[in-house]
Amino acid sequence: MAEVVGAVFSSHVPAIGGAIARGVQNEPYWKPFFDAWPPVREWLDEVKPTTAVVFYNDHGLNFFLDKMPTFAVGAAASYANADEGWGLPVFPTMQGHPELSWAIIEQLVADEFDITMCQSMLIDHALSIPFALAWPNASPAPLRVVPIAINTVQHPLPSAKRCLALGRSVAKALAAWDSDERIIVMGTGGLSHQLDGERAGFMNPDYDNFCMDNLSVDPDALTKHSVHEIVELAGTQGVEILNWIAARGALGAKATEFSRTYHIPISNTAASVMVLETEAGNAARKEPAIA
Ligand code: DHB
Ligand code: FE
Repeated sequence: MAEVVGAVFSSHVPAIGGAIARGVQNEPYWKPFFDAWPPVREWLDEVKPTTAVVFYNDHGLNFFLDKMPTFAVGAAASYANADEGWGLPVFPTMQGHPELSWAIIEQLVADEFDITMCQSMLIDHALSIPFALAWPNASPAPLRVVPIAINTVQHPLPSAKRCLALGRSVAKALAAWDSDERIIVMGTGGLSHQLDGERAGFMNPDYDNFCMDNLSVDPDALTKHSVHEIVELAGTQGVEILNWIAARGALGAKATEFSRTYHIPISNTAASVMVLETEAGNAARKEPAIA
């Protein structure tokens, strides 16, 4: 059977892509942020994932306000990035995993999620930047992806409870996936940030810590706030925490916190990267290296 080894939760600020393109990772502004990633890469080297199921939000590259699916699941053989207007180099095309995509879609529809299935889909910085951080020397990253886009942009947004349930339905599909693959889940976005309006620049470490503290042990705690309360607590774009909540659901019932970092600010955002590990991931890390 496939093994779900853990999850990486990460912010996805475009300015990070700019810093990578300019090679300024060691400048004082950037160093504390980039220093968070080598331990994540070491963990990835140890658990050796072959496949990633990624919960993120599209920012207008693939879906715009005129057509906005609440939940969109990619079922393409590959996923290209394109110029989003941030002045970043176009990120590498990622290899898809249509068979697993369809297994996930079947499970979600069986569980009565009315999703949009996308046999062609562009991916934006919200997917590409965490991959550029996790696999900086590979282009594209050496694993197949299933992208799942959640609407965190055009209200009304899905509730946190619904996003957690979506993730739990994906967990069922992953548990039933008959292969020798090692799967990681990723959730991107957040943490607290607001890019526009009167509260532009708003961040809230108390709420961010509440989310990070509960993510592994009690993800249902994150569903006690309505979307509007999350906007109040995390900022208009801080609702991207919905992607983390869905990803946590997809990890299955039990997950242990392996690492977390939190750094304010990167651009307008409270930036974090967290790794949660399953029992299978923990066992995979302890396997002796093959000589
Ligand atoms: C920023 C953060 C985001 O999540 C995003 O998608 C775009 C910009 C920022 O802080 O600049
Ligand atoms: Fe974003």
